[in-house]
Amino acid sequence: MNIVFASAEVAPYSKAGGLADVAGSLPQAMAPYVNSVQVLTPLYGEIDQNKYDIHPTTIRGKVALGDKVAPYSLYQTTDVDQITQIGFIRCDRFFGRDGIYTESDGEGFADNNLRYFFFQLVVLDLISSGTLPTDILHCNDHHTGLLPLMMKAMHLKVKTIFTIHNFLYHGHFSTQEISLLPKSTGPLLTKTQLDNYSALLEGIDHSDIVTTVSPGYALELLAGVNVDEYSLTRIQAVESNFYGIVNGIDTEYWSPEHDQFTPFHFSKDDLAGKRKNKAALLTKVGLSPDMDAPLLGSISRLVENKGFPLIIELLDEFVELGAKFIFLGSGSPEISDQLQKASKRHPQHIAFDDGFNEPLAHLIEAGSDMFLMPSRFEPCGLNQLYSLRYGTIPIVHSTGGLGDTVDAWTSDSGTGFVFEPYAINELRKSMELALKVYHSESDWMTLMHRAMLMDFSWDQSAKQYLHLYNLLIGGSSENI
Ligand code: GLC
Repeated sequence: MNIVFASAEVAPYSKAGGLADVAGSLPQAMAPYVNSVQVLTPLYGEIDQNKYDIHPTTIRGKVALGDKVAPYSLYQTTDVDQITQIGFIRCDRFFGRDGIYTESDGEGFADNNLRYFFFQLVVLDLISSGTLPTDILHCNDHHTGLLPLMMKAMHLKVKTIFTIHNFLYHGHFSTQEISLLPKSTGPLLTKTQLDNYSALLEGIDHSDIVTTVSPGYALELLAGVNVDEYSLTRIQAVESNFYGIVNGIDTEYWSPEHDQFTPFHFSKDDLAGKRKNKAALLTKVGLSPDMDAPLLGSISRLVENKGFPLIIELLDEFVELGAKFIFLGSGSPEISDQLQKASKRHPQHIAFDDGFNEPLAHLIEAGSDMFLMPSRFEPCGLNQLYSLRYGTIPIVHSTGGLGDTVDAWTSDSGTGFVFEPYAINELRKSMELALKVYHSESDWMTLMHRAMLMDFSWDQSAKQYLHLYNLLIGGSSENI
């Protein structure tokens, strides 16, 4: 079985969000079960080629974008094993600039549709020319949503699977832009009610199997939660081929025992290092070194749906209760401004780092007591999984993957604090309960142990993907 895995971002080379983490770890988790896994992604200008030993191959070609022709070349690095290859598609005109999707001011690049049409056409070219032997093409999110349809239009005998990491982003394109795609794709496209096209919905319509990144989110999408009525008809049309598989995590890279970014290591049996990381974190972000105050961490894109309107409303009163907060992330200027102001009001209690900083992200996971993730919706979420591993207790809204992976605390079970419905008062109650349990040392230790015992390594999820791959190629899926 030869797999091609196409993704607009792949960690650690390029990362804007959780998609990168999945694309950087799922293919490797699949490696033991298949002949080859070829990951394909753009060679963005910001990727450090020296650091990762990314070098040119002899493979190059051209693809037609309407009446223009654009050249590409394939670069490669062999990642951690012999089976997984990471291929980078180079075309400086489209990818040789800073930023993955956006300008430095956060505005999306004006030519994003063109850039990802190009990327997909190159994937198509590499497969249709036989350069990359492919039984299954695994596409991810709207940037690769047109590939299943392209495979059909070209009558290629490649099975396709399309994974939705976030239904919010559709990759809409216009009637005029269709002329950039191969002519045979036109008749297969379906207009949306907005009189344009959605690359995400095309992926759903035309792939052999559709998955999303948790069973909970799959059920929500099928039930139309946060989905417009029109899109719902297209989702429900493929209901019998629609699956939810929870993401796994890279348990080496996110490991309290071996973390390369944290000054102190720890395990569930020896938590001394966690306390030392807390002290290091408080000092690093300039908060007063009050070790007994509960420290709540947050690592997130600053967008409304991550729950910031609720969090911001509650900051002052929880500072009054003695809590401290550390926020890391960038995004909406309004949210950033509000966090900035809150940290100015309470410089000893609230710290905010506007941007992305991988070492600090690890230290926040390792040094915080609790992790705040009250997303309005969340397809899977990865930070709550990292948090559990580091004994950093998640406070989450019961939605999508958050509901699937965090169990509500009771004195004899549960791994975190879970609220429902999405409302300020519910979050307030969860945070109050979290603080109360925190101040009861033996309850808190038990809770940390339970959290750290959870296993979210890829193994189980990789086997579920393998089962689907086997269904697609008609092989046996016994013993899975
Ligand atoms: C998106 C989703 C997030 C998910 C990630 C990886 O970023 O918003 O919930 O964990 O993709 O699948």
